[in-house]
Amino acid sequence: MTNSQRSSTPTVSHPLLTLPADLDPQRLPRHVAVIMDGNGRWAQQRHLPRVVGHQQGVETLKELLRCCQDWGIPHLTCYAFSTENWGRPGLEVEFLLTLFERVLRQELHALIQEQVRIEFVGQLQALPQALQAQIQEAVARTRHHQRVWLTVATNYGGRQEIVHACQALAQQVQRGELTPEEIDETRFAQQLYTSTSPDPDLLIRTSGEMRLSNFLLWQIAYAELYVTETLWPDFNRESFYQALVAFQQRQRRFGRL
Ligand code: IPE
Ligand code: IPE
Ligand code: MG
Repeated sequence: MTNSQRSSTPTVSHPLLTLPADLDPQRLPRHVAVIMDGNGRWAQQRHLPRVVGHQQGVETLKELLRCCQDWGIPHLTCYAFSTENWGRPGLEVEFLLTLFERVLRQELHALIQEQVRIEFVGQLQALPQALQAQIQEAVARTRHHQRVWLTVATNYGGRQEIVHACQALAQQVQRGELTPEEIDETRFAQQLYTSTSPDPDLLIRTSGEMRLSNFLLWQIAYAELYVTETLWPDFNRESFYQALVAFQQRQRRFGRL
């Protein structure tokens, strides 16, 4: 089974009225993944505390979500907190986790109004209880929505996800439900946190760093990579448009000629 058959794609029923005329609506990415990087540098440039950059970054994400709604891109996945980000100063970690909880609480009504389905991927059980509760509520109250799926990678690490999938498969083998030979790419992908979404077509990283930082290692095998020098809080509708133009200029070959 291919990845597209395995996934259930939301239907986009609203008109694409605001899609820039030089973008081909037939060749838009179905799934955009974003490494939202550069909040700290954005704040430092303004002689502000790093956390102000994180606050501003939330506004960028809200605008990007609106773009996806307006332009008919059904899946958006964003990297909010990596398994490595625990290594930052305690105060910054605490600020980030509190910010996520507050934003989720404040934005839940808008997500419901806008028919957004929100999901979270990562080791969620390690997050503070209050954040976990807010996540559960947001997921439960938006799970029937079909317009845009927003996936937030929180305490996410690509390697951790792969190890977790291996453990799940090993347990199935141990219980006699599966033989090692039956493990194939489809079965493996079904054990990943992202099993219900198609693989990303486009991966955007802001702030110029040419690395993956442990994001979606399996899923981006054939994603088009787009790195911009723009810092995440400055990434706007125009920047996203530029990324989509670049995407549409790529020739995706998937190993063929
Ligand atoms: C990305 O911005 C946000 C998170 C990792 C949570 P950074 O905080 O990494 O910003 P820079 O890279 O230090 O500028
Ligand atoms: C990647 O950004 C993680 C998130 C955006 C959440 P980082 O700023 O943590 O990545 P590195 O440290 O530059 O690789
Ligand atoms: Mg960074």
